[in-house]
Amino acid sequence: MKQFIEQLEHENKLPPETYKALLEGYTSELAEFVFSRAQATREKYYGRTIYLRGLIEFTNHCQNDCYYCGIRKSNRDLTRYRLTPETILACCHKGYQLGFRTFVLQGGEDGYFQDEKLIPLIEAIKTAYPDCALTLSIGEKSYSSYLAYYKAGADRYLLRHETANTLHYSKLHPKSLTLSKRLQCLNDLKDIGYQVGMGFMVGSPYQSIDCLVEDLLLIERFKPEMVGIGPFIPHHATPFAKEVAGSIELTFYLIGLIRLMHPRVLLPATTALGTLDPNGREKGILAGANVLMPNLSPVDVRKNYLLYDNKICTGEEAAECQQCLKNRMENIGYQIVVSRGDYTTSPSVS
Ligand code: SAM
Ligand code: FES
Repeated sequence: MKQFIEQLEHENKLPPETYKALLEGYTSELAEFVFSRAQATREKYYGRTIYLRGLIEFTNHCQNDCYYCGIRKSNRDLTRYRLTPETILACCHKGYQLGFRTFVLQGGEDGYFQDEKLIPLIEAIKTAYPDCALTLSIGEKSYSSYLAYYKAGADRYLLRHETANTLHYSKLHPKSLTLSKRLQCLNDLKDIGYQVGMGFMVGSPYQSIDCLVEDLLLIERFKPEMVGIGPFIPHHATPFAKEVAGSIELTFYLIGLIRLMHPRVLLPATTALGTLDPNGREKGILAGANVLMPNLSPVDVRKNYLLYDNKICTGEEAAECQQCLKNRMENIGYQIVVSRGDYTTSPSVS
């Protein structure tokens, strides 16, 4: 198996059957080997630096009904909120002072935030913080809307594909959402010029090893600048309430494989990792991740952006505890830097 990992490290691609063999042949020893090669690869391009993104969860209203998601529209047992532009700018202000140079506006697909509200908001953030990158994560929109946000100053867009298998996609979403539409959106975003993030949940219901192979092949082909993956975690008020959570070990292994496949990718150690394991984000970094996304949302709304049960939403994951995060990273030999942390095209020397 190790020769396949070396092949991935040198060629950045593998045939489907080899990805499958690597996933079926998972052992903790093999995972350790992947992590050591992934760390070396990441250090070649990004040194031992970790980039921060300040996550602003600005609305939990959502018109969609994804079967896995706690903010789906059918969940009536939830206090819905929207942040005002003033509050969002105040979050950016706090984040800027804490050293954040990227802000991520994430939310449900909320019909209230039409283009005429979003465009001035994007312009206001970019005017106030011209040295910062702005990432949007607000779901599926038309080409013209994506273009308008880009022209207003948005730099990056996160839109997980969730699964690259059409049948699996239909088991996770109602009929109104399709994989082909999702991929069209990702292509539109790339075409416009965004730095694009795709990704998937590990261990979502009905996921097979073949689905994961298709996810890896899609990422290999699409070459996104960012990849967000995290374990599926059930939420009590969704159709998947009784399903089991995804494997955190498999998630780390996949982070390592994605780093080897796509050496310069910006790869967050996600909140879901920190939810399943108190040291999940450190382990994610040691598996090959290089980004952290602390929460910058006002503390009182965090409990309402509950995508899955037990989501960590106060304490060390939060932007307030910058020093805790800094110490945690230093303890494993990494440094948090004040930087936009854009996708790099040249190897680092540090
Ligand atoms: N509405 C935007 C979108 O769909 O891209 C952004 C918000 S959406 C809630 C962000 C991500 O949360 C989804 O892409 C999904 O992968 C993840 N997510 C939702 N429910 C989850 C769950 N139960 N466990 C793990 N991740 C989940
Ligand atoms: Fe909101 Fe899936 S439930 S996008």
